[in-house]
Amino acid sequence: MTAHDTTFPEDFLWGTATSAYQIEGSPLADGAGPSIWERFVHTPGLTIGGDTGDVACDHYRRWREDVRMMADLGMRAYRFSVAWARVMPQGRGSVNAKGLDFYSRLVDELLARGITPMTTLFHWDLPAALDDRGGWLNPDIAHWFADYAEVMFKALDGRVRHWATLNEPWVVTDGGYLHGALAPGHRSLYEAPIATHHLLRAHGAAVQRYRSVGKHHIGLVVNLEPKYAASDSAANQAATRRAHAYMNGQYLDPALLGRYPEEMPEIFGAAWPEWPAADFDLIRQKLDFIGFNYYTRSITRDAPEAWPVRAGRVPQPQGTYTETSWEVFPQGLTDTLQWIRERYDNPPVYITENGAAFYDPPVAENGRVVDSLRVDYLRKHIGAVHTAIAAGSDIRGYFAWSLMDNFEWSLGFAKRFGLVHVNYATQQRTPKDSARYYSRVVASNGAALHEEP
Ligand code: BGC
Repeated sequence: MTAHDTTFPEDFLWGTATSAYQIEGSPLADGAGPSIWERFVHTPGLTIGGDTGDVACDHYRRWREDVRMMADLGMRAYRFSVAWARVMPQGRGSVNAKGLDFYSRLVDELLARGITPMTTLFHWDLPAALDDRGGWLNPDIAHWFADYAEVMFKALDGRVRHWATLNEPWVVTDGGYLHGALAPGHRSLYEAPIATHHLLRAHGAAVQRYRSVGKHHIGLVVNLEPKYAASDSAANQAATRRAHAYMNGQYLDPALLGRYPEEMPEIFGAAWPEWPAADFDLIRQKLDFIGFNYYTRSITRDAPEAWPVRAGRVPQPQGTYTETSWEVFPQGLTDTLQWIRERYDNPPVYITENGAAFYDPPVAENGRVVDSLRVDYLRKHIGAVHTAIAAGSDIRGYFAWSLMDNFEWSLGFAKRFGLVHVNYATQQRTPKDSARYYSRVVASNGAALHEEP
């Protein structure tokens, strides 16, 4: 592999990613129970425009066409999540065969079209019945989650060879329990560290269960964001350390090293609990891979007003920003992969999400969506992955976020991350230029990275 050769390793898994609540629609169909997102979106004022996932991309009914579309685009892999409350309407106890069948048929169809499935067990849509019992604050959730995971492993492990336990536990606690912008919408310094710990225990319990009933690969998906100090002042350096520990170390350190970063008590003060040592034996399980979702970086400064981490982001006057105000910074992907390699002894990594919402032009009469900024984003970020591989990182695959435009949580449908445009009135799918470009990158195993769409 030379510097100009952008070919990826053989068997590199190229695909796209989605999550259940963001695309499926029909959230209560066929006996499914409500999730915390069902409740959240139906509470006035919590999502932009009052948008809900009631219909979303209608994937629950159009899944077969969506798989065909992926195949037409030449995708080799697909990362999707399972809605826990479809499979177990109460979150525990009885299994809803119809809910389970949906995922079983989806997996069959993917395999029939030569697409490798990667299944995420939890992408934020906690069964509401479990939230009524305290959700991630109830220690029993580790066992509820492992029981649900076991149902999925037994049903699909013969066909699914890549499993992820949790998607972005950091977002679950930061958005759901600390700042309240995401379901279940709590705002508590005291709850966040408890939710963190039980998410990690649930992850560990599910991996443990996998080792007794599953035969393939299982990992944890985290979102990481490199933190670069705005200056070398002691205050900015300390803020950067806190921000880095809070976002990048809080989940990976316990899962891989068996301890929390030492900065956590400094951030949470009296709200940071002591946990029994035995918990870390459960949390720290051997993982087959790390799933890494990458979107942006932060130039970090000391910000005493920024509760509770006391770290703020310095806007970059010459930076390019996406529609969600995230700076485009491909080098951060390479840097973070280097950090993973060094800190965690070069584990296998999948880039499980990477992508951007931009102000896309409308679908033109000739059917094109000229999303040049997204093409440029993909090219630079995939290039950044290639650079990390050349430096020695063990990277096994790349999943663009997202297959198609979808429900962007509390931001509703206004932000479009898709490689495929979705007309929400007609449900028509139109591949954007980025989809065509990515198809060629996949078909050439990376060699076409620098070609025009
Ligand atoms: C999440 C996705 C989300 C994406 C863009 C990630 O944090 O896993 O569900 O749509 O980022 O915000």
